[in-house]
Amino acid sequence: MRLYINVDHVATVRQARRTDEPDPVEAALHCERGGADGITIHLREDRRHIQDADVRAMAESVTTALNLELAAADDIVTLATEIRPHHATLVPERRAEVTTEGGLDLGVGHQAEPRLKDTIARLHKAGIRVSLFIDPDHATIDRAAELGVAAIELHTGEYANRYRESEKPLERLRIATSYAKDLGLAVHAGHGLTYRNVQPVAAIPEIEELNIGHSIVSRSILVGIEAAVREMRSLVDAAR
Ligand code: PXP
Repeated sequence: MRLYINVDHVATVRQARRTDEPDPVEAALHCERGGADGITIHLREDRRHIQDADVRAMAESVTTALNLELAAADDIVTLATEIRPHHATLVPERRAEVTTEGGLDLGVGHQAEPRLKDTIARLHKAGIRVSLFIDPDHATIDRAAELGVAAIELHTGEYANRYRESEKPLERLRIATSYAKDLGLAVHAGHGLTYRNVQPVAAIPEIEELNIGHSIVSRSILVGIEAAVREMRSLVDAAR
């Protein structure tokens, strides 16, 4: 299982003072030393944490693989086609949200987000592997397969919110994962995963990649980011 570390919140701390520390690129290199298989960053339209210059510097410096999360916004898609990350994950964005609250609306039963098809085509043309961040439901997975992407990232937010009280969200992830695999999609997962709740998700054999950010950056304040990644790496590996 590949473990990708989302370092957005290193930039959140920097942006709180708009200075040059901590540097998310330096953090990414520490993550790689701690056993990360890749680095994830989300360039949001409001630039609340990661900045355009970070994306360029990250593309130059990361030695594992870079996963760029982005919404279907013209200038950001253009930047993605220039820096050509290993993969791009398309996510929905609502300005007022604290974090990405739901999966992409792929237009099940109504008109899909019109820019989505065009964005996927632009990314594919640049040779970038595309993943869609979606909720674990069959109709949305069908639509993702129709859109011709290589991968989906299942939104684990519902699982993270409810895993203590119900087995159902985990079961939903399991079912969605095998359904997507049968359609030929690679399956990634992420959002809200922590040291406490990661293992049951990591144990789903067909999930090949996890994207984890907030919990690891939080722990890094106490133990350093390399150690924080190493601890998560051990939990994930032990669950496989
Ligand atoms: N995957 C996607 C698509 C995301 O948007 C995020 C949050 O930026 C994550 C994973 C990581 O979520 P968390 O910070 O809750 O681990």
